[in-house]
Amino acid sequence: MLYNKELILESMSFLKSKGIESVDTVVVLGSGLSHLVDQFPNTMVIPYDDIPGMHASSVKGHDSALIYITINNKKIVVLKGRMHMYEGYSAFQSSFAIALMGELKARQLIVTNAAGGLNPEFNPGDIMMIEDHIKTQFPSPLEGILTNDRFVDMQNAYDISLYDELQQKYQIKKGVYVSTLGPQYETPAEVRHFRNMGGDTVGMSTVMETIMARYYRMKVVGFSMITNKASGLPGAVLAHTDVIEQANKAGKILSNIISDLLQKDNI
Ligand code: HPA
Repeated sequence: MLYNKELILESMSFLKSKGIESVDTVVVLGSGLSHLVDQFPNTMVIPYDDIPGMHASSVKGHDSALIYITINNKKIVVLKGRMHMYEGYSAFQSSFAIALMGELKARQLIVTNAAGGLNPEFNPGDIMMIEDHIKTQFPSPLEGILTNDRFVDMQNAYDISLYDELQQKYQIKKGVYVSTLGPQYETPAEVRHFRNMGGDTVGMSTVMETIMARYYRMKVVGFSMITNKASGLPGAVLAHTDVIEQANKAGKILSNIISDLLQKDNI
């Protein structure tokens, strides 16, 4: 499915009928971060299956709900779970929720993912602030838009102005995220290739959401949680259950980082 404004507007009417008139900040939670929302009051939970254009995840261990919270009068939508392209969704569908938030005037996106470490110095449990990405899936979520605003400038797509502060407090890393379609993990040769291209982490999400967010002129702050060393590197263990276990561990630190960001007046 290509970019479909009608479907976005239908979905927006549905959210408005639930009382969500506008949104300030959107958070996309990758694996291992679901407990983040438990610490905030004033929540409204809407299962993805209830929202036109959205579907529950087929991945075990991924929840699928839109959660609306307010912190200091700031309206925040937390997207718990994603529609991944490896489930068969198009680039547009995989970033549909971000387009929806863009139409609801969201100004900021905090996007997170679980990822393999391509950089040999990255270890499971580390957190990397994303400073740029390399997209290796071919389609774009903006295909189907016929106006010239589709030619989105992807320079400075990720905001890293808080890096120094977060690095001091949480010892985070900084680097380039490479996206793949998945669902299979990479071959060792692909990992060498991605590293040579300049990648530091590799995962199966995020870039379509960032592109959509930049189309809507949102500020994007992105984080990878390193759950494993990438395929072929010494110590690489690539089993989905291990990835989820590591994501749960690293998720605690990243939850604290995101809570810090949400308390700020303007991330
Ligand atoms: N590769 C791709 N996606 C991932 C990985 C990986 O090594 N780990 C977690 N998500």
